Amino acid sequence: MNEDVLVIENLQTAFDTEQGRLTAVDGVSFTVPAGKTVGIVGESGCGKSVTAMSIVQLLPQPAGVITGGKVIFKGKDLIGVDDETLYGIRGNEIGVIFQEPMTALNPVQRIGKQLSESLILHKGMSKKDAWAESVNLLDMVGIPSPEIRVGEYPHQLSGGMRQRVVIAIAIVCKPDLIIADEPTTALDVTVQAQILDLLKKLQKENGSSVILITHDLGVIAETCDEVVVMYGGRVVEQAPVENIFKNPQHAYTKGLLDSIPRLETPRKSLLKTIPNMVAGLAEFVDGCRFCQRMEREGDSLNTRPELKEVATDHWVEACPQCTTHA
Ligand SMILES: Nc1ncnc2c1ncn2[C@@H]1O[C@H](COP(=O)(O)OP(=O)(O)OP(=O)(O)O)[C@@H](O)[C@H]1O
Ligand SMILES: [Mg+2]
Repeated sequence: MNEDVLVIENLQTAFDTEQGRLTAVDGVSFTVPAGKTVGIVGESGCGKSVTAMSIVQLLPQPAGVITGGKVIFKGKDLIGVDDETLYGIRGNEIGVIFQEPMTALNPVQRIGKQLSESLILHKGMSKKDAWAESVNLLDMVGIPSPEIRVGEYPHQLSGGMRQRVVIAIAIVCKPDLIIADEPTTALDVTVQAQILDLLKKLQKENGSSVILITHDLGVIAETCDEVVVMYGGRVVEQAPVENIFKNPQHAYTKGLLDSIPRLETPRKSLLKTIPNMVAGLAEFVDGCRFCQRMEREGDSLNTRPELKEVATDHWVEACPQCTTHA
């Protein structure tokens, strides 16, 4: 199957704030092919989570609004559909894993009840069957003594275990798409690796597609088929993972790559960092936002660069000061 599970077209998401309506996601487009993992990478505040929350329409209310674009999931635009349809899709066809497992779990409900809920609601299982299936799921995500854990509460589990439970909840209905927003950031490194392996294994077994949000390019290199690089609420580059690492085309992508620590770097040398800070939402120019960050001058600051396909499936925001492809 070669179809795209998800096609995002020109997505615009804004927040109503004291400063007025501010656009956080500004015309983002990318696709998620069936069975593939697409990584979204970029510094803090560049719009990764807002993009994810827009896909499943779980934006903070009432401030967050989708002001334009399409989110086409399995051929159907989700923007503007009724709540009931969305309830039917979330947790069933699209599973979501957020960063902090404690906020995703209900502290006063047994693990088994939280897992059973989706199975009863979306799959019409009886309570008893759903409980038995919950034990299987806990086993599948690598939780020891699942038949005991299933009756426990979230606070009785370690952080790594809780994140495994959150993953189990996200995959309980074998979704076509899993959205994982920094699923391992709160965990220590060895647990991180286990969780990522687990995600990979489950994805293979279920044939799901995955959107993996992270600021860790190491995680991207190991896990993703394609990469979307975001800056200032926009996509500045999208390409197959090998291209991003071997042949990056946008100055921002190059900057991110240069800031990864490497074994061959002498121990006492300083890591390269990208200078200056990301502008606030209200200060962004309409032209190239990375030029704005780098305090460059010229016409590129006035006109939004278009996305250009510079090699097969390799897209770059064609700013003349940030890439040779303009
Ligand atoms: N509820 C909100 N009200 C106003 N602005 C918001 C709100 N939530 C997010 N934003 C703004 O939207 C922009 C994008 O935020 P987002 O959370 O998507 O960043 P991110 O890329 O996920 O960053 P991080 O790596 O820190 O998670 C930021 O400028 C942020 O301040
Ligand atoms: Mg985020």
